[in-house]
Amino acid sequence: MASVVTVSTKPYEGQKPGTSGLRKKVKVFLQENYTENFIQSILDANKDSIVGSTLVVGGDGRYLVKEVVDKIIKIAAGNGVAKLLVGQNGILSTPAVSHLIRKYKTLGGIVLTASHNPGGINNDFGIKFNCSNGGPAPDNTTNEIYKLSTAISEYKIVPDIQCSVEKIGVQKFKVGDRDFVVEVIDSVKDYVDYMKEIFDFPKIKSLLQGGEKNKPFNVLIDSMNGVTGPYVKAIFIDELGASEENVRRIVPLEDFGGAHPDPNLTYAADLVNAVKNGDYDFGAAFDGDGDRNMIIGRDAFFVTPSDSLAVLANHLQHIPYFQKTGVKGFARSMPTAAAVDRVAAAAGKEMFQVPTGWKYFGNLMDAGRLSLCGEESFGTGSDHVREKDGLWAALAWLSVLAATQLSVQEILSQHWKQFGRNYFTRYDYEECPSDPCNEMMQELEKKMGSSGFVGSSHSSGGKTYVVAVADNFSYIDPVDQSVAMKQGLRIVFEDGSRIVLRLSGTGSSGATVRLYIDSYEASDVLGSAQEKLAPLIDVALQISQLQKYTGRDQPTVIT
Ligand code: G1P
Ligand code: ZN
Repeated sequence: MASVVTVSTKPYEGQKPGTSGLRKKVKVFLQENYTENFIQSILDANKDSIVGSTLVVGGDGRYLVKEVVDKIIKIAAGNGVAKLLVGQNGILSTPAVSHLIRKYKTLGGIVLTASHNPGGINNDFGIKFNCSNGGPAPDNTTNEIYKLSTAISEYKIVPDIQCSVEKIGVQKFKVGDRDFVVEVIDSVKDYVDYMKEIFDFPKIKSLLQGGEKNKPFNVLIDSMNGVTGPYVKAIFIDELGASEENVRRIVPLEDFGGAHPDPNLTYAADLVNAVKNGDYDFGAAFDGDGDRNMIIGRDAFFVTPSDSLAVLANHLQHIPYFQKTGVKGFARSMPTAAAVDRVAAAAGKEMFQVPTGWKYFGNLMDAGRLSLCGEESFGTGSDHVREKDGLWAALAWLSVLAATQLSVQEILSQHWKQFGRNYFTRYDYEECPSDPCNEMMQELEKKMGSSGFVGSSHSSGGKTYVVAVADNFSYIDPVDQSVAMKQGLRIVFEDGSRIVLRLSGTGSSGATVRLYIDSYEASDVLGSAQEKLAPLIDVALQISQLQKYTGRDQPTVIT
């Protein structure tokens, strides 16, 4: 029998969860009691229901996941948790955690990931709490966790529990007079079974093997050494009959092999080049924890996430899951271009615009008002879980391609012809000094609120834009009326073109500035986004004086 030890501790500053959990450098988490404090604060935020509860635990395989899984086991035991469902070797993708919480109706789960941020001893780690609906904890819960972390004086742990998570199976412990159970589960099985229910696997398999056209449809799937590797193997190789040549980087590595596991044109350039130079019809990449996706077609034709969302919205009827559930509403985050809004309008569906971060979609899904949603940041997903889901997005695309027998590019051309095109680009200025960036945002907000700003004209490249609306986006949740303020500075011009500026809430150090630009064209749909948007980008740089404040004349990443 093991017993609970109460350890006294002192609060650390800055344990405030950001857009998606607490993310810091590994070395920050390695400070004495830093990680223990935060885990205890998560459990305390659930104190009314923690005793006797079940939690799911897993992470993206990055450096420190195994050590922190061990700490969670010991601290959960110390706080009266009855059972943990832990992914084998601590491995679970973020969407898989969401699914497990829902399937086994647990109190919630703890996800160990810093998502797309690099891993390894010198890079990032993260801890996130998901609630019983499977989704990231809403603001009131994360605020409570933070508040508890600022006043913590002790944590409860059972140091004597020795629990290996290498083998699948049930391990039982006695803690005082309580039973404590750790069930190590297959990391991929439940999730893969679920995907087989949602999609028509035989149809996708037939597409990959040539199907009606009798010419194999060649895919290249890149896990970027992140957590999706084993899921990709199970789904694409074992279930869909793809070969080793159709997948890359499918072994999760603690440092992602040095890669920055963020599926965009910059960090997934390897995949883009491989598809460009090879005989591939479709390419997809996923981030470290498996919730983001990038989709490209033959010759590396790039699908912006905003367009990807709109295309899927327009074709959901091809997916068995939606044939069963019907299609409810659609939603996007505010900075995401409004392509999906046009599909919603045409289909007569409800359309929601929420702040940045997946947690804002959960209530709408729980209320049965939302089927499909997405963010411009390579996040796409549906109400099958309460996280965005990279592999789901790739399978959704393959379902559409199988049903329509069109190429990725043909689907987009057709879509733009029908709905017009929302040209979109995002500039990221990563890890800038914080103070000047905060000042830039304050000054810009002041300028936007000054008299005469609405109605003012701004010109570049022979184009003139007149400001119609200027605000700091705020959101009232239509389900529980909770309010999220100051979610991004937004300047909308008379022709509907838009500039959005916000600071990232997921970085682990410094400030990352995100500049989002979009503009709608009804018929001029085949141009290059960078060319089309160049005047607006210039106007954004003028108004914000971004280059002066950040000291950068080029962004780190352009999408
Ligand atoms: C970023 C993305 C946001 C996404 C989040 C988690 O947050 O912009 O859309 O939900 O990562 O993947 P940010 O760093 O901008 O706060
Ligand atoms: Zn992620």
